[in-house]
Amino acid sequence: MSENFAKWYDPLMNPLEQTVFKKIRQDLIQRANGRVMELGSGTGINFPLYKDVENVTAIEPNPYMIQRSLNKKEKASVPITVLQQSAEELPFSDHSFDTVIATLVFCTIPNVEQALQEVHRVCKPGGKILLFEHVLMENPVLGKIQTRLTPYWSKICDGCCLDRDTVSVVRQQGFEMVELKQYYRGLFIMMEFQNH
Ligand SMILES: C[S@@+](CC[C@H](N)C(=O)[O-])C[C@H]1O[C@@H](n2cnc3c(N)ncnc32)[C@H](O)[C@@H]1O
Repeated sequence: MSENFAKWYDPLMNPLEQTVFKKIRQDLIQRANGRVMELGSGTGINFPLYKDVENVTAIEPNPYMIQRSLNKKEKASVPITVLQQSAEELPFSDHSFDTVIATLVFCTIPNVEQALQEVHRVCKPGGKILLFEHVLMENPVLGKIQTRLTPYWSKICDGCCLDRDTVSVVRQQGFEMVELKQYYRGLFIMMEFQNH
């Protein structure tokens, strides 16, 4: 878990966050309801956006990221708890949450299938699964470039893979797609699923 990645994450992301990402995050998070779990909450960039939810339980494995999120957690308008955990092993009972959210996280989780099985388990049947991710592009030329760049990118960005086909993996787990929006020729996607 990189301390440097945590240090540079917000300044590097800021230009995108102030423009298109902010709108995508708002669109995604206003769909959340009830008890919410956020996976890989990072520096807590989503924390100020939670409004009409009961509470948020955020999990994040990188302690340096958690440290940087605490200020936003304190200022949030809903109760937020942050735990140092990984998505592949969630310390919660079955059907604990109404909504599960992850933003720019499934590109980095080492075992995506295991994490999705945990999401299915801890989310209530019929609950919402809300994702904002960068994914493998459908254009084969651009997709190949993403795959070529991934070994280098992953080293700089703490394990982040540019060529994860997250849409297919989530569908294969049996979640029902409610909505899919694509941005920048399908490089970024916003997805709402219903838990089965
Ligand atoms: C690119 S950052 C995104 C942070 C934040 N969600 C955002 O939207 O800006 C990816 C985050 O996923 C976290 N992460 C990595 N492996 C994880 C895992 N196995 N389970 C949960 N989160 C993980 C990283 O520590 C990092 O904070």
